Amino acid sequence: MKSRVPELTDESLNLLKSVKGSPISRLVTSQVSKISSYFEFSGLLNQVLDLWRVMMLPITAATSGGSKLFVDEGFPIYVHINSFFLIKMTCWILVVVAILAVRGLHGLDNGLGLTPPMGWLTWERFRCNMDCDRDPDNCISEHLIKAMADIMAANGYRDAGYEYVIIDDCWLGPERDTNGRLVPDPNRFPSGIKNLSAYVHSKNLKFGIYQDFGTKTCGGFPGSEFYMQTDAETFADWGVDYLKFDGCNSNLYDFPSGYEAMGFFLNKTGRSIFYSCEWPFYKIVSGLQVDFAKVRKTCNLWRNYYDVQDSWSSVLDIVNFWGSNSKIFTKYAGPGGWNDPDMIILGNFGLSYEEERVQMAMWAILAAPLIMSNDLRHIRSSSKALLLNRNLIAINQDKLGIQGILLQKQNGIQIWSRDLSFNRTAVAFLNENSDGMPRFLSFSLVDLKLTSSTYNFTEAFDMKTNILVTRQRPLKIKVNPHGINLYIAKEMHL
Ligand code: GLA
Repeated sequence: MKSRVPELTDESLNLLKSVKGSPISRLVTSQVSKISSYFEFSGLLNQVLDLWRVMMLPITAATSGGSKLFVDEGFPIYVHINSFFLIKMTCWILVVVAILAVRGLHGLDNGLGLTPPMGWLTWERFRCNMDCDRDPDNCISEHLIKAMADIMAANGYRDAGYEYVIIDDCWLGPERDTNGRLVPDPNRFPSGIKNLSAYVHSKNLKFGIYQDFGTKTCGGFPGSEFYMQTDAETFADWGVDYLKFDGCNSNLYDFPSGYEAMGFFLNKTGRSIFYSCEWPFYKIVSGLQVDFAKVRKTCNLWRNYYDVQDSWSSVLDIVNFWGSNSKIFTKYAGPGGWNDPDMIILGNFGLSYEEERVQMAMWAILAAPLIMSNDLRHIRSSSKALLLNRNLIAINQDKLGIQGILLQKQNGIQIWSRDLSFNRTAVAFLNENSDGMPRFLSFSLVDLKLTSSTYNFTEAFDMKTNILVTRQRPLKIKVNPHGINLYIAKEMHL
């Protein structure tokens, strides 16, 4: 049977992306939506199809000359149908219904991530450095991971809550083995990943790893597409506690079902594996919509924006993206699942002390993961003190898990607010200006959207200074350039 639905080619997709918002784009989008509505499914059937979609990929590609079922959050479903398709669909639906009957129909329910995850990750600081001859202490290797685990355990990081030690990209060898299993680079990981994870566990830390949904990782190593079950089982066998699942070298339209399928296979292993996804990031930067409710149901953590770089402009750009788009994804954060503005870069080359304070305080306001990427062997004591600041960590880890929002931004001053447990509110004043002189500022309770008549403001880095603020007496503060003041406001009953 020929479909009534024209197949959306890569070319037309690219066109759609490049002219987003233009009349052509709106025309294409509305045609696709109209066509899609013939094929709209919901509820159980949709869930069944989601899993089925990924399971179909290898067979579809092999047998039907590239016919594909495209699904995106924005466009419900449009299908290119042929006779093979119907037979395969029937078989796979039967298989998937059987799996779902055993699994239940609820999304991610792995009990992990009740507060934002904390840990350390190779990427921002050590990248894809594979040159162990020239740079033996800094190349991606078991030596580096063990060194960081040692320091996290010995120097207070683990005790402050940083529990995951995660290898990012570039740990793999170039090929899978003859059974299709992933193989780490033998020179850099001579003891194998299972032994490395045992070492990390012996330090009372948890072990994380990186893979990619596509055919290759971003660094060009074997990806998980068509091997997701094998890889999930391998990770469980190796004692992996955290998976960062990237989205390079894949079709963006396969993300919802692909990420869900990997989550399904991870859960099926029976091991508790924290699931960090890059799904929204790639779609957002391509101008595509994201179904955040579905992302939250599938992942414990999800990246929404570009990679953090070692600079103030990068940190500020991320904060501004969060400020401008709060309404879209803030409400999806909460115990079990979090928006991810990317790694903490304190202790590296790019940030001043004031700027490091900004990143720590803003990541606390944003209920963001505290996943550091730095060299803990060589770190300034001021950076270490900020990373280990229990007051900031307590705000970050607040049990209610409500992500903060931007209240207002004027003349380079941003005011952010986050509701905390015990009727407290964290309020941050961020000064983006570079003009050298601290700003003297004054804000009323109305400016800060605080509705009672009297509040105690406690400075939140040290929890030592208190300021009484009433309807008649505004909050008067001084904020350094590229700096931040953070307070915890608590209503007073006088
Ligand atoms: C992407 C991700 C990064 C990192 C690299 C690895 O860019 O966004 O966080 O994992 O891939 O190649």
